[in-house]
Amino acid sequence: MSLTRSDVAARVLADCVPEPVDAFEAFAPVNIALCKYWGKRNALLNLPVNDSLSVSLAKKGSTTKVCWLPEQAEDEVILNGDAVDRDSSFYKKVVAHADLFRSLVPGALRVETVNSVATGAGLASSASGFAALTRALAGVYGLPLNDEQLSILARMGSGSASRSVYEGFVRWHKGVRADGMDSLARPLSEIWPDLRVGVLTLTSEVKKTGSREGMQRTVDSAILYGAWPEQAERDIARIEHAIAVRDFTLLGATSEQNALAMHATMLASWPPLLYWQPESVAVLQKVWQLRADGLQVYATMDAGPNVKLLFEAGSEADVRLAFPDIDVVVPFG
Ligand code: PMV
Repeated sequence: MSLTRSDVAARVLADCVPEPVDAFEAFAPVNIALCKYWGKRNALLNLPVNDSLSVSLAKKGSTTKVCWLPEQAEDEVILNGDAVDRDSSFYKKVVAHADLFRSLVPGALRVETVNSVATGAGLASSASGFAALTRALAGVYGLPLNDEQLSILARMGSGSASRSVYEGFVRWHKGVRADGMDSLARPLSEIWPDLRVGVLTLTSEVKKTGSREGMQRTVDSAILYGAWPEQAERDIARIEHAIAVRDFTLLGATSEQNALAMHATMLASWPPLLYWQPESVAVLQKVWQLRADGLQVYATMDAGPNVKLLFEAGSEADVRLAFPDIDVVVPFG
């Protein structure tokens, strides 16, 4: 019999004695994967095929306040100041995540989230959103959960949320257990104060294929996907090494190649999956030209058309000159 999300939540929360409070607020940062998560070994529990490694974007993220309202009949969800429709998928996902905890403490909740990243900015606010929600739920129910337990619970909302529990560099260990109790993220101890992540918002159109569906299609139909776990394993080792010895060229080159390899598996799916727009290709070609001209700048892309650039503080002025609309983030600010 396969395990449900509630079964796993019950295992994480097994020894907890709740001490609910009226309200609790928590923040979690968005993260950009340098070695990507693409493909699940268990779609229900969001258990990945490969380890992934990300960098969190410091102050860019989600702030979520959860109020416990035992007298109230129904949950309320508020996003960036507006009440969310009860029929929307966003409302249902938030309520389903809260339900993971509700066997311990019944009662309605008000969940208010403010994202400091614009919707459609090419930064996955679902990762920061589910991480902040998980922290706020644990807080409002007074559950003494550690970051690894929070990471397991956040993962069940959105895979990449497992990494948004932490600041800085973070590795999500895929784990091998069927219940996913070993599929969780841990932070790396290294910091890189000169590292910069530049976000280029090329279009804010809502994408047609979400990452959940896109991953499944790739796993099911792309023969090329067979090579992905090996690529990810090689890349994550290189990236960890690059971080340890502060080798920016190795970090940038490996991250870019990893992203392009992930997109190659998508393109090899059927029906084909291509998140890129002509503007995305133009940015990639400009990045390659800048590198040919001697500027150390690299690109990475997720399940959308926007491009994120990786560079160091010393290159920032030149990168800004080439991309005047870039939003530059200092992950270790
Ligand atoms: O966590 P999800 O379901 O939003 O998937 C994230 C997938 C990528 O952003 C493409 C890669 C990653 O590791 O963040």
